[in-house]
Amino acid sequence: MKNNNPIEIAHNTYFIGVFDPDIRTFDIIMKTSNGSSYNAYLMKTSEGVVIVDTVKLEFQAEFFEKIEQLCSYDEIKYVICHHLEPDHAGAIPELINRAPQAKVMISPQATGMLKAITQKDNIDFETVWTNKSLNMGDKTIKFLTTPYLHWPETMSSYIEEDKLLFSGDVFGSHYYDKRLFDDLVGDFFYSFKYYYDHIMRPFKSYALNAIKLYDKFEINTIATLHGPILRDNPKKYIDYYRTWSQDDYKSISHGKKILSIFYLTSYKNTKDMAESIFEGAESVEGIIANVYDLASLEEQNMINILEESDGILIGTPTINSDAPKPVWDLLSCMMFLEKRGKMGGAFGSYGWSGEAVDMIIHRLKSLNFRVPPMENQKIKLIPTKKELQNCYEYGVEFAEILNGKMIEMTMN
Ligand SMILES: Cc1cc2nc3c(=O)[nH]c(=O)nc-3n(C[C@H](O)[C@H](O)[C@H](O)COP(=O)(O)O)c2cc1C
Ligand SMILES: [Fe+2]
Ligand SMILES: [Fe+2]
Repeated sequence: MKNNNPIEIAHNTYFIGVFDPDIRTFDIIMKTSNGSSYNAYLMKTSEGVVIVDTVKLEFQAEFFEKIEQLCSYDEIKYVICHHLEPDHAGAIPELINRAPQAKVMISPQATGMLKAITQKDNIDFETVWTNKSLNMGDKTIKFLTTPYLHWPETMSSYIEEDKLLFSGDVFGSHYYDKRLFDDLVGDFFYSFKYYYDHIMRPFKSYALNAIKLYDKFEINTIATLHGPILRDNPKKYIDYYRTWSQDDYKSISHGKKILSIFYLTSYKNTKDMAESIFEGAESVEGIIANVYDLASLEEQNMINILEESDGILIGTPTINSDAPKPVWDLLSCMMFLEKRGKMGGAFGSYGWSGEAVDMIIHRLKSLNFRVPPMENQKIKLIPTKKELQNCYEYGVEFAEILNGKMIEMTMN
């Protein structure tokens, strides 16, 4: 099969996307050893042609070649844009040049973005949301509002007659394989999970909302925006997202609150503080406390531990007027997680200036952690017995607040 032939994925519905086998880094934050694809689709209906999403600008020539094999530009009635990130919106301006009569269908949240991303202010568009549908004679397109998966404007749509879900980036994989369908390509599961972890996990409550909508439909095929088209029991992919997005996924808490205490230390001063805080926290009923040495914690483990923690405490010495890099690395992992009001605090030993603890408190607040107004545990050099007792009491107090004890919270 020639690489640039459109491929029929459902009745009169064609894959007109492009393959990018050579891409190795996506959106800065993701690596892809198997390349990717920018999936786009063309539907022939009894009332005209509908284009579903476009491709990255540098691949648009191939995209237009595929359209030209299927129709003439004046047959195009609508362009549905599920997501305006440039990997899917890159060819919109040229498509509109070629098919100026076509109306662009977007979510209301995309209104401001459309102009900014296309640099055109004369686009004819209409906004759509759940319960709105577009009747194209033999095809009925139902729009579904699925925001923040993974931008505010993202949406999905469902073709009733074909039981076909256009999911946007949801259920995508950065995985190029020209065999295209999940039952024909190689094993892409690692990529499906990796994509979820990096792109969708920060929005997992939105994923659960989207799944509630998807659950209303019988689905034969999921046409995603990246990687394989899913037609081999598509429900299993929905179930993976459902499982991964549930809060108690992986939880070992048995209904208790999880408090994770991370520390870094050069002369064991901060470590001693961490252990006293742990003893204090652990003595509170309903709390499971754990201690982790940041010097040897892999990033993937940091993410997983942060995800399951209800509260975190970070112990850091001050080194050259700063907190050392592994401490910042820990907090940078929050990029991959939902920011939903976990509780946070910081402590540490210092020599003379001791600004690291304050810096971490500041960072916790800007990451939307709830930081209780307790006295910071900053200890000069080697903690005394009395100071370690204070750490113990700090651990008790923090754990009690985590467990629901009411305090005067002048929270950030
Ligand atoms: C290379 C180096 C740089 C340091 N810079 C600072 C600093 O800028 N401000 C400060 O208060 N303490 C500074 N200190 C002192 C440490 O914070 C102090 O020794 C602390 O007790 C170390 O705690 P730890 O045993 O948990 O690592 C520095 C120590 C080292 C070894
Ligand atoms: Fe995207
Ligand atoms: Fe994308």
